Amino acid sequence: MDREFWHARWSNDDIGFHQDEVHPVLVDHWPALGLKAGSRILVPLAGKSLDMRWLADQGYRVTGIELSEKAAEAFFKEQNIAYTRKKRGAFDCFTSPNIEIRVGDIFDMTPAELTRFEGFYDRAALIALPDGLREDYVAHLMPGLRRGATGLLITFSYDEALMEGPPFSVTDEDVGGLYGRYAHVDLMAERRGPAKSAALRDKGLTDVRDGIYRIVRR
Ligand SMILES: C[S@@+](CC[C@H](N)C(=O)[O-])C[C@H]1O[C@@H](n2cnc3c(N)ncnc32)[C@H](O)[C@@H]1O
Repeated sequence: MDREFWHARWSNDDIGFHQDEVHPVLVDHWPALGLKAGSRILVPLAGKSLDMRWLADQGYRVTGIELSEKAAEAFFKEQNIAYTRKKRGAFDCFTSPNIEIRVGDIFDMTPAELTRFEGFYDRAALIALPDGLREDYVAHLMPGLRRGATGLLITFSYDEALMEGPPFSVTDEDVGGLYGRYAHVDLMAERRGPAKSAALRDKGLTDVRDGIYRIVRR
């Protein structure tokens, strides 16, 4: 999954991962993280997710990191939020009072930037990355975050014989193996059933499992 893959997905409007509503798991489980309003929340691989809007509406300061300029432009336009745009370091930053989307590569976030965040939200970020890159992603993000930084992680697992990702199948064991050396990991809830997306159900994903985790940086 290189950058070109994702740029092509955006330029072809092949964005079946995007949801036209706020993720119900975020609404149900975010409050249990106990993050105070005003906290800075990192949303890696953010797309144009409405979840950023919801987090900002709860009083958080939200920073999305996203490769696609098209996604960032679409987010602010569709949400009718005015922004300014400025290049800062490796990122082309689209900035509004409570939401900033930094267009660039998550792997270009420096430890000094990462340490500013009290919280993070990962929906369809970890599971968008293939095996190998997932390890690199966690090993890049987690050491940079401050102690106590708390995140909500949503994963997805299924019979890998049915489909090649993305989204990739990530199990409880995978999550423990990836995050356990950096963080306390709690499975908060799980959901089983057919995939929500018709395209995934067409591939035979009639029995999938979402895992919902609280991750607290040690
Ligand atoms: C599966 S989508 C999920 C988007 C969003 N989290 C959501 O829930 O709609 C993954 C997104 O990550 C972006 N992306 C992939 N690799 C990235 C990277 N290395 N740095 C920043 N963004 C990346 C893609 O452009 C794509 O928009």
